[in-house]
Amino acid sequence: MDLAQYVKTLNTGHESYPDILSYAVEKNVPVIDSDALAALKHLIRIKAAKTYLEIGTAIGYSGLHMLSVYDDSRLITIEKDEASYETAVENFSKYKVGSRVDAHLDDAKTIDLNLDEASVDMLFIDASKGNNQLFFDKFSPFVKEDGLIVVDNILLRGLVIDDGITGRNKRKLKEKVDAFNQNMSKSNYPTSFLPVGDGLLVISKSQV
Ligand SMILES: C[S@@+](CC[C@H](N)C(=O)[O-])C[C@H]1O[C@@H](n2cnc3c(N)ncnc32)[C@H](O)[C@@H]1O
Repeated sequence: MDLAQYVKTLNTGHESYPDILSYAVEKNVPVIDSDALAALKHLIRIKAAKTYLEIGTAIGYSGLHMLSVYDDSRLITIEKDEASYETAVENFSKYKVGSRVDAHLDDAKTIDLNLDEASVDMLFIDASKGNNQLFFDKFSPFVKEDGLIVVDNILLRGLVIDDGITGRNKRKLKEKVDAFNQNMSKSNYPTSFLPVGDGLLVISKSQV
């Protein structure tokens, strides 16, 4: 066992949605890693964040976990894949949080979200990784001034430092994710690049 695996075992606690996680594993649906999820939920607690905007619902696994922290929290979430969206809606209903979720079947790149600026406590970006910059630019105005923006998979399972990539698409993806990471690192936003899961980037909306 290496150190990363050791930390992962410590961070992996009781699973509240084992059926959904099993479904994700079985059907190869990518969902947030357990240790990144633990960090995300901790951030929610620290900030007492109760309104979330999620880009990339998949089957509702991370959304359910976010909503589990506070009974009076609300989630707006966007998914472009119809089958995933339908499953997510079923899962939200199954766990009786449907009334707290505003789920959109749409492309986050083009959706016209009817939402006030500076109205959510946390933005969670977890969709097509090559569009992280686009999603940040488009959706960060919806985050309150003291809110947080969290981006998952900023390490691309190691691809982000792989100099031997031969495929054009993979190389482009690597370049885009790296460019976003570098851009955030140099920005006036306070940032933390956390090596949990597949890498979690935490950005404070308030600029320094
Ligand atoms: C990594 S999965 C999300 C996992 C989920 N947040 C979780 O941890 O349970 C990424 C999802 O984003 C969706 N997606 C990718 N590009 C998108 C876009 N432009 N608009 C909306 N959804 C998108 C994919 O269909 C996929 O279901």
